[in-house]
Amino acid sequence: PGPTPPPGDLLATAYPWPAPGTGWLRAMMLVTLDGAFAGPDGHSRSISSPADRDVLAETRRLADAVLIGAGTLRAERYSPMRARPEAVDERRALGLADAPVLAVVSASLDLPWDLPMFAGESALPPLVVTTRAADAARLARAREVADVEVLGSADLDPRALVAALHARGLHRVVCEGGPTLLARLVAAGVVDEADVTLAPLYVGGGQIGTGAPFPAPVGFDVAHVLEDGGFLFTRMLLRGDADAAGA
Ligand SMILES: NC(=O)c1ccc[n+]([C@@H]2O[C@H](COP(=O)([O-])OP(=O)(O)OC[C@H]3O[C@@H](n4cnc5c(N)ncnc54)[C@H](OP(=O)(O)O)[C@@H]3O)[C@@H](O)[C@H]2O)c1
Repeated sequence: PGPTPPPGDLLATAYPWPAPGTGWLRAMMLVTLDGAFAGPDGHSRSISSPADRDVLAETRRLADAVLIGAGTLRAERYSPMRARPEAVDERRALGLADAPVLAVVSASLDLPWDLPMFAGESALPPLVVTTRAADAARLARAREVADVEVLGSADLDPRALVAALHARGLHRVVCEGGPTLLARLVAAGVVDEADVTLAPLYVGGGQIGTGAPFPAPVGFDVAHVLEDGGFLFTRMLLRGDADAAGA
């Protein structure tokens, strides 16, 4: 079937999660026609649209955690995590916390500590996930303003990352990028759902390298394609995962 225009209330049912307590990693990514993840200003907002922002809000609405790489936090300077008031009752009825936790992956711990999210303005403390190679002074700084998880040596194993999130009760995870973290997660086979949005834009140059190619492609099956304003919103499920997808 061709792309379907989303009716007003479709979004509330278009991104189902499995039952609470079931591990599920949903990865969001916005990409231009020429394969860029950000506009000429280095931000993804400049290649986004109102419907894209609605989809992002919906995919977070009933999540336990929003997971990002440090490069995304440095570029996008996230706001504190809070659920919309109308979502809080629904979250509580499902046994979820009042808002998602923002989890940031960083080996360097070179993070923008001045952000309001690190100043007690998040509904729940942010979580910083790093490695045993982290600088001691930066680690101490992180512990002052966030929960901290220290995993493995210099390079963080995505499977250990996901296991650590689950151990903290964070089962429904929405990864909002960036491309480097996403490539690592897909390569490790821990991404259950890839929600890739195609922006009807060419931006030229500036594509971000995401590390070494995989030994073999990782395949997904299409669950839906929606369209709004020329933006195509795909929801894809890792091959073999479809039964667990709640779709
Ligand atoms: N189009 C979109 O949907 C979208 C979404 C998000 C971001 N973006 C754009 O993407 C750009 C940033 O790209 P990026 O690839 O640099 O972002 P990223 O993936 O968010 O960040 C990469 C950083 O995350 C940490 N990291 C990731 N995997 C790790 C691992 N396995 N072990 C240890 N640390 C790990 C490292 O942090 P340290 O360097 O601190 O060690 C690494 O440098 C920005 O321009 C942003 O606007 C676009």
